[in-house]
Amino acid sequence: MSQDKGYRLKVAVCPGSFDPVTNGHLDVIIRTAKHFDRVVVAVAANPEKCPFFDVSERVEMVVECLGDYDNIEVISFDSLLIDLARKYGSCAIIKGLRAMSDFEFEFQMAQMNRQMDENIETFFVMASPEYTFVSSSGIKEVFKYGGSIKGLVPENVERRLKEKLKRGKSG
Ligand code: PNS
Repeated sequence: MSQDKGYRLKVAVCPGSFDPVTNGHLDVIIRTAKHFDRVVVAVAANPEKCPFFDVSERVEMVVECLGDYDNIEVISFDSLLIDLARKYGSCAIIKGLRAMSDFEFEFQMAQMNRQMDENIETFFVMASPEYTFVSSSGIKEVFKYGGSIKGLVPENVERRLKEKLKRGKSG
C-alpha cells in the first residue's frame, strides 16, 4: 500500500556490507527512520569482498538490533542497489559520511546511481561525532588483537565476534 489520499509513503534504503554492523551504522539508520515512513536496511551479499560474517549472519545481527522499530526492515541483496531501490519503491538511498575521505568514493557511487535512475536521490547523513572514527574493518582488527571495542558495536555483535574467532572464521 504505497498510495493513500495522494500521499506516497517515503521509503529509504540504507545499504551497506555491515560486516559487522557498528553503532555508527545503527545511529545513521535510526536517525533516518525518524524522517522516512519506511526504512529498508539492505545488507549486500558482497561475496567478492570475502566478508568475515556470511550475509545471513550480518542480517541477523542487524535484526537483533533494530527488530523493535516498526518502520525498519532488514533484507539482503545481491544485485544493483538501484534495482533494489526501485523494487522497494524507494525515493532515497542513504549513506553515512564520517569524513571527507569517505566523500570521494560515495560521491562517485551516488553519481553512478543517479545516472541509472535520476528519480532516486542519494542523501548523505553525517556520522555523529562519537562515531566518526568507527569502521567495520577497524572493529574487526582491534577485536582480533584483543583491543576494546566497547561502545562501538552493540553487545550482540561483540558476542558474535567472540564466538566467530573462537571457532575460526569459517565456522
Ligand atoms: O558498506 P559498504 O561496503 O561501503 O557498502 C557498499 C555498497 C554495498 C552500498 C555498494 O557496494 C553497492 O551499492 N553494492 C551494490 C552493487 C551496485 O549497485 N554497484 C554499483 C554502485 S556504483
